[in-house]
Amino acid sequence: MNKKFILGIVILLIIVIIVVVCLFFSNNANVKENDTVNNISEAGNILIVYFSATGNTKDVAERLAQNLDADLFEIVPVNPYTDDDLDWTDDNSRVSREHDNESLRDVELETTEVANWDSYDTVLIGYPIWWGIAAWPVDNFVKDNDFNGKTVIPFCTSSSSGIGESGELLESYSNGGDWLEGVRFSSNPSDSDIKEFMDILNKDVE
Ligand SMILES: Cc1cc2nc3c(=O)[nH]c(=O)nc-3n(C[C@H](O)[C@H](O)[C@H](O)COP(=O)(O)O)c2cc1C
Repeated sequence: MNKKFILGIVILLIIVIIVVVCLFFSNNANVKENDTVNNISEAGNILIVYFSATGNTKDVAERLAQNLDADLFEIVPVNPYTDDDLDWTDDNSRVSREHDNESLRDVELETTEVANWDSYDTVLIGYPIWWGIAAWPVDNFVKDNDFNGKTVIPFCTSSSSGIGESGELLESYSNGGDWLEGVRFSSNPSDSDIKEFMDILNKDVE
């Protein structure tokens, strides 16, 4: 009876120790995550601008905004792209025609004006890759805004292509800004992909 009682106490103690150790390590992990976020936050106010035709880039932009405590601005074409418009396998679809004829890529946007634009120090700009470059609805946003004094970080989603020269091309349309190397995400990135990006930001933005 006594032995059983002591054994019970020992088992209970072991369980308590295991729980305390687990709690300690999980808190430490949270502190590390928060440190990462705090460092990038020191870069100043962050705005995440994105265009997304089918929701993948929107999802990444929203997850980044949550991690970075950043504001979001969606680039919305006056004529949104329908599924038929986006059918790149059809030579006569809207995207195919725009791809084949550069003069058709001047996509009218709902607005390119961001409230309190001057208050942002860092702008992340996200887009899907279309035929190896940034989806062109982003172009008029970049052309219409003054990026001087801002750090600009392009990011994209794609099925398989890399980010390629898409960031450099957008930079060439812009007037000013310190454009950093961009980052590519898959169409549905994991949390660790997002975390990896946060680490890259901490290296590039001080
Ligand atoms: C017109 C069009 C062209 C595309 N071109 C490419 C491409 O060149 N390389 C690639 O990997 N994915 C390409 N994709 C796939 C998209 O980049 C990918 O699905 C992206 O995550 C879509 O983002 P969204 O949902 O924010 O619009 C293309 C998709 C469309 C609709």
